[in-house]
Amino acid sequence: MGFSYGSQGFILILVAVSLLALGEAKTVVVGGSQGWRYGFNYTDWTLKNGPFYIKDTLVFKYDPPSNTGAHDVYLLPNLWSYITCDFRRAKLVANATQGGGEGFKFVLNQWRPHYFACGQGANSSHCNQGLMKFFAVPWPRWHF
Ligand SMILES: *[C@@H]1O[C@H](CO)[C@@H](O)[C@H](O)[C@H]1NC(C)=O
Ligand SMILES: *[C@@H]1O[C@H](CO)[C@@H](O)[C@H](O)[C@H]1NC(C)=O
Ligand SMILES: *[C@@H]1O[C@H](CO)[C@@H](O)[C@H](O)[C@H]1NC(C)=O
Repeated sequence: MGFSYGSQGFILILVAVSLLALGEAKTVVVGGSQGWRYGFNYTDWTLKNGPFYIKDTLVFKYDPPSNTGAHDVYLLPNLWSYITCDFRRAKLVANATQGGGEGFKFVLNQWRPHYFACGQGANSSHCNQGLMKFFAVPWPRWHF
């Protein structure tokens, strides 16, 4: 009984949240006018700019490599690697040059947590000290 009530409650929540998401998919520049850069608090940014929905697009904008450094975008495989900034099983989604111009576009088309982080710096310092990480769990939409 408890299980069935729980499932119904969950579905109701999904319906309620998805009704809010009937509008067009949105395109959001990660970090706003600051873009993807060292020292900006992306966890805080995510709290203020979420939630995100399936089919929304995140845009990563960053300068090409220079003597002041470079950035890139990885997806980390799970929560623990995200917490510890462990890139051993990470997947590169945008290299150091792909953030130029209009930026690198990532479409959130899967209903699962996405753990984004910058893989640059000795000892993953951009992720560890530079706050260049955040996660997004896009909500489903009924309507595409
Ligand atoms: C970043 O923002 C989060 C959420 O507002 C906050 O909990 C955290 O302490 C901030 N981190 C730093 C290093 O300021
Ligand atoms: C980054 O990826 C682009 C597109 O795949 C490629 O043309 C470019 O050579 C790559 N740059 C580096 C620094 O790996
Ligand atoms: C990386 O971290 C390890 C362990 O904390 C430390 O021994 C090493 O000196 C660090 N390397 C750099 C380049 O900061």
